Amino acid sequence: MAETHPAAVESLLAKITTREARVGIIGMGYVGLPLALTFIEKGFRVLGFDVDPEKVTALGAGQSYIKHLDPARVAAAAKTGRFEATADFSRLDEPDAILICVPTPLTAQREPDMSYVIGSSHKIKDRLRKGQLVVLESTTYPGTTDELVKGILEQSGLRMGEDFYLAFSPEREDPGNRDHSTATIPKVVGGVDRGSLALAQALYSQAIARTVAVSSARAAEAAKLTENIFRAVNIALVNELKVVYDTMGIDIWEVLDAAATKPFGFMRFDPGPGWGGHCIPLDPFYLAWKAREFGRSTKFIEIAGEVNVEMPHYVVNKLQLALNERGKALKGTKVLLLGVAYKKDIDDPRESPAFEIIELLRRLGAVLSYHDPHVPKLPRMRSWPHLPELASLPLNEDTLKSHDAVLIVTNHSAVDYDAVLNHAAFIVDTRGVYRSAHPKVIKA
Ligand SMILES: NC(=O)c1ccc[n+]([C@@H]2O[C@H](COP(=O)([O-])OP(=O)(O)OC[C@H]3O[C@@H](n4cnc5c(N)ncnc54)[C@H](O)[C@@H]3O)[C@@H](O)[C@H]2O)c1
Repeated sequence: MAETHPAAVESLLAKITTREARVGIIGMGYVGLPLALTFIEKGFRVLGFDVDPEKVTALGAGQSYIKHLDPARVAAAAKTGRFEATADFSRLDEPDAILICVPTPLTAQREPDMSYVIGSSHKIKDRLRKGQLVVLESTTYPGTTDELVKGILEQSGLRMGEDFYLAFSPEREDPGNRDHSTATIPKVVGGVDRGSLALAQALYSQAIARTVAVSSARAAEAAKLTENIFRAVNIALVNELKVVYDTMGIDIWEVLDAAATKPFGFMRFDPGPGWGGHCIPLDPFYLAWKAREFGRSTKFIEIAGEVNVEMPHYVVNKLQLALNERGKALKGTKVLLLGVAYKKDIDDPRESPAFEIIELLRRLGAVLSYHDPHVPKLPRMRSWPHLPELASLPLNEDTLKSHDAVLIVTNHSAVDYDAVLNHAAFIVDTRGVYRSAHPKVIKA
């Protein structure tokens, strides 16, 4: 028998199931924009909010600013007449459901920076009206939704569960992944109360293939952190094994290719020059921070951090040793980095280990250039104030021959690695691009 709810919940449920409900999304970034398109493509009207006027203007003109997102989808969404973007947050009373997709970075002290979530919650509170559903999607520590966000929203005088509804549903967007998209990735949903869960689940079920209900917003928050901690720890594990095996003269890539043939009980993770992106190096520390409040330590998270943060140093050391073998010092040596995005085939350089590698090489006096088919200019980064101003060089014989060494940081598919092997003096390969042994290739 279908669950019954108070009249106000039933009324919003009806609006959702008939797709008359208007969806508001705060934060039109890597997460918010694909989510907006997904709802529009299912027939909803979407109002996108962003503080960045350039994004608002681009969306108004039907233009995408995210490279891996098909521009035709944004153009088509604009043509439906059901998509509008705005920087006017006084319009937050217009949508029936508001989804928060703002950044959740770390502070300089590596603690959760909740300023974006807090700021958005206040803006919602200022315009909150009866019957609205609010869902937080930003990755965060357990308790954010039912303590922090609820507390701010209730300053409006309205009551959660009676006047408005509140849930958490983590985003699992994987930029550049061709096999999975927002609409096909199952969506975990946790409500602060039963009515909120029913509403959030109903909303996502309209646009996303499968929703997975959990008993609370906290469980949903913890599920997201668990997924990313699992990745962070396993990346650290293979990175540590890489170093150990290398010392023993064993190739980690050969080992992984063999281990991965086990049809059960093994999940492959690949080593690399560190960890990167907006999620894996940051999210685990949201739990570490919250755990301290409960007198608990998170040893795996700390160790994963130590191992992964050490990797750029390991890579630079490998390059130094290789130069040493050739009677050269790093100082004055021309190094070409291949790939600066944090992972293959995307244009996002956030938290990329490339920055730490560039900084280490710069301090040691190397002369740096890079090629990345997806990152034409090295962006300014708050944490890396001394980075040289660099633009991607064309990758050709001249470029390769005019450098003393090539360092593969990111293994983009668009690069011709045979040509790199032909023309480079030698290559430090952190991604296992070259599987067989070659005198020019140093695996790192
Ligand atoms: N990028 C991913 O692959 C990914 C995957 C899963 C989860 N997440 C999580 O999703 C959340 C958003 O990440 P993202 O990658 O989309 O970030 P992003 O930086 O790409 O997008 C955030 C957007 O919010 C806007 N913004 C900032 N402050 C704002 C404010 N006060 N009001 C309105 N808009 C504001 C920014 O201009 C930007 O357009 C984070 O919590 C992140 O951890 C990201």
